[in-house]
Amino acid sequence: MKKDVLIEASILSADQARLGEQALEAQEGGADAVQVDVMDGKFVPNISFGPDLVKKLSSILKIKIDAHLMVFDPEQLIPRFAEAGAGRIIVHQEACTQVHRTLQSIRELGVEAGIALNPGTPLSLIEELLDIVDMVQVMTVNPGFGGQKFIMSQLRKIRYLRMILKDRGQDLPIAVDGGITGITAPLAVEAGAKILVAGTSIYKGGSSVSENIKLLRENSNIHVQIS
Ligand code: DX5
Repeated sequence: MKKDVLIEASILSADQARLGEQALEAQEGGADAVQVDVMDGKFVPNISFGPDLVKKLSSILKIKIDAHLMVFDPEQLIPRFAEAGAGRIIVHQEACTQVHRTLQSIRELGVEAGIALNPGTPLSLIEELLDIVDMVQVMTVNPGFGGQKFIMSQLRKIRYLRMILKDRGQDLPIAVDGGITGITAPLAVEAGAKILVAGTSIYKGGSSVSENIKLLRENSNIHVQIS
């Protein structure tokens, strides 16, 4: 069954004493992928996971593992995340010295390449990259932490990106990451999101992981009228 919207569970907000179990709960709960937020303490004011976690998760999960590299100059880490089993490696436009070459290097390793852009980064900075990526991840929070508030102004950016892709005849998935809840999910989808990355609403959403994922998926299909 083709799913309209894919749900990715970000384990940044999971119980870090039980990451394997929580990733498996997301898989059993119907998540389409797990996203591992990698942070270097420089590009973002936090430090998190490395390739060894991706290696461990890829030994127990069947679903795709996305490595979201919120690190400066990620080039030297890309081969390690590819070898660890990341199905997709997402780098930040703002963090790469030679972003076009970095994205090429991901694809040369047979891994899907994603480009992420922060709320302050205009789409014009990734237009020349759209031919060499497999997805665009629009950050709807300033990266570094889970549990932040969705930045509503990014809906305009998502809509504009959808227009650009339509104009280019490209069916590239748009992922939206940050502050995705039952309220913001339908807004993001209406704007053009095909992948919703959620951490807090899945792992701290007041019900079981599978219930929270189910709710998110149901809410993401609610048709919203934006005047
Ligand atoms: C920010 C992280 C978060 C995380 C999702 O650096 O990338 O956006 O994935 O966080 P929630 O769903 O808790 O906003």
